[in-house]
Amino acid sequence: MALLEILQVGDDRLREVSQSVSSFDLNLTNLLNDMKETLKNAKGAGLAAPQVGVLKRIFVVDVEEGYFEFINPIILGTSGSQYGAEGCLSVKGKWGDVKRPRKVTIKAQDRFGKWFKIVAKDFFAKAICHEYDHLEGILYIDMADNIRDEDESK
Ligand code: CO
Repeated sequence: MALLEILQVGDDRLREVSQSVSSFDLNLTNLLNDMKETLKNAKGAGLAAPQVGVLKRIFVVDVEEGYFEFINPIILGTSGSQYGAEGCLSVKGKWGDVKRPRKVTIKAQDRFGKWFKIVAKDFFAKAICHEYDHLEGILYIDMADNIRDEDESK
C-alpha cells in the first residue's frame, strides 16, 4: 500500500467528469487500498479518485457508520436539507458552509462489482454528496457561503 498525493484546487483534473469503472481487477483493489490508507492518514471523512488523479467514478467515506467504498455510484433520491461547515482534502485549510440534503439513498458497486444500496443521513449523507460531486468535477467551494481559513472556524 502507498500514500497517494492529494491534488489541490487549481489542478485541472479536479474539474473533469470521471468515467465509469468497468474492470473489477487487481488495479482497482490496489487503488482502493491506497485510497483507504491515504484517507486514514489525512484523517478525512472522504476521498474521491479524481482527488488522487484517477478520473474514475470511485469514492471512499470514513464516518461514524463505518468505512465504505462506492464504485459507479448512483444517487437514487434525496430528501430534507442541512446546512453547515464543510472542508475538503483538496482545499487545504479552508471551511465553508454548504446546503446539502439531510438524507440520501444511493446505490453503488463494491470492490467485487456487487451492487448495494445505502440510506445515509446527516453527516454521512453530507459526505456522500460532497464526494459524489468530485466525480462531476464539482468542489464544495463552488457553492459554499462564508469560505474561511481553518483557524477562524474554531
Ligand atoms: Co472533497
